[in-house]
Amino acid sequence: MSCTVVIGAQWGDEGKAKMIDYYSSDADIIVRYQGGANAGHTVVVGGKKYVFHLIPSGILHPGKICVLGNGVVLDPLQMVDEMDKLIEQGIDIDYRIFISDAAHLILPYHKALDSALEEMRAENKIGTTGRGIGPCYADKCFRTGIRVGDLYDEKYLEEKITQTLKIKNLQLEKLHGRDPYSVDEIMDICLQFKARVEKMIINTAFYLNEESDKGKKIILEGAQGFGLDIDHGTYPFVTSSNPTVGGALLGTGINNFQVNRVVGIAKAYITRVGEGPFPTEDFTESGNTIREKGHEYGATTGRPRRCGWFDVELLKQAKRICGFTEIALIKLDILSGFKKIKVATGYQYEGKKIEMFPSFMLDKVKPVYTELDGWDEDISACKKYEDLPEKARNYIDFLEEKIGIRIAIIGVGPGREDTIIRN
Ligand code: IMP
Repeated sequence: MSCTVVIGAQWGDEGKAKMIDYYSSDADIIVRYQGGANAGHTVVVGGKKYVFHLIPSGILHPGKICVLGNGVVLDPLQMVDEMDKLIEQGIDIDYRIFISDAAHLILPYHKALDSALEEMRAENKIGTTGRGIGPCYADKCFRTGIRVGDLYDEKYLEEKITQTLKIKNLQLEKLHGRDPYSVDEIMDICLQFKARVEKMIINTAFYLNEESDKGKKIILEGAQGFGLDIDHGTYPFVTSSNPTVGGALLGTGINNFQVNRVVGIAKAYITRVGEGPFPTEDFTESGNTIREKGHEYGATTGRPRRCGWFDVELLKQAKRICGFTEIALIKLDILSGFKKIKVATGYQYEGKKIEMFPSFMLDKVKPVYTELDGWDEDISACKKYEDLPEKARNYIDFLEEKIGIRIAIIGVGPGREDTIIRN
């Protein structure tokens, strides 16, 4: 039993990649369990920046195995591009990547439909990344999806694509006025992908359980975050998968008895991209300062992220649903220089305090803030909790007390080494 799940505790972009990179040094296998190339995970090692959309960032650790689980929706073009970039950057990926035969493929019609559907939503946009995520998961539920394992039987694959395109092309042409796709071009993508990754395709659920039984250390890497969970997040402004702990089990086939640690990753403030409620969003100069200091622009789409203050109720709800055993608080250094730091410790709805994270009406609640004193010092060189200025420690202690969970790790800069581990 040595499986750690790493989950974003807010609305994504919490800095999971940096932490997964940290945990990877002590792991044998790193598994991505949901989502697709909508994620953008950035890791800085020795001043060099690496951006991942599909492949777990654990690939930067020589010898570690990286797995794309059955819960992932995999864009073959993106995957090959990412592998090529890693090779160009001198990363050895040979025999180090496994792909689930049950993962679903994102094909060009999924991406075309994603943008066409978003266009049709007019005033009610979700703000999707346009990577085809929703349409691909919808096909999975309709039971019309194409899975990685389908690549093995070309005749069956061609029949399936022919059947699928009849409907997709009708929808694209008649409903959205878009160009259709031919069976040949989709087959081409599939077969080229197969030629490139054939040796990597396995039954990952079987493999992971076998390795876990042998005592291998496994990290389950989530993409997006709690607030974007299709069941527990701010529906409909969510992604189409479950970044929460249930998604980690479903998306890998690992059972709950194998998991002994669930780490929630939270930023010291909050950001969100795309539409949807965000009670602590700051529309003033402070929000802009956070964005610029924190380089809060999407790694996948380049969109400016909406910025605001730490929200205790959001974290408490993420803790309830995911069973966090600890929190890693990232990007504390970005808050240096603020005279006052706001923390929302609860919400009010129509003048009454509500003691929970609501399933509906989050757009109508007002945050109840406590203001804490900020600190001026640059904290990026701090190596121990005790090195932090008193007011930064007060901030951490305050959050810990309000959320009711230990903040075990503190991020004070983008690099691997800019991490404080508390005893
Ligand atoms: P989709 O996942 O592309 O369908 O987008 C649905 C919603 O999730 C949109 O609001 C996106 O901006 C948001 N989203 C998807 N992936 C990420 C991510 O990796 N970080 C932050 N937000 C994301």
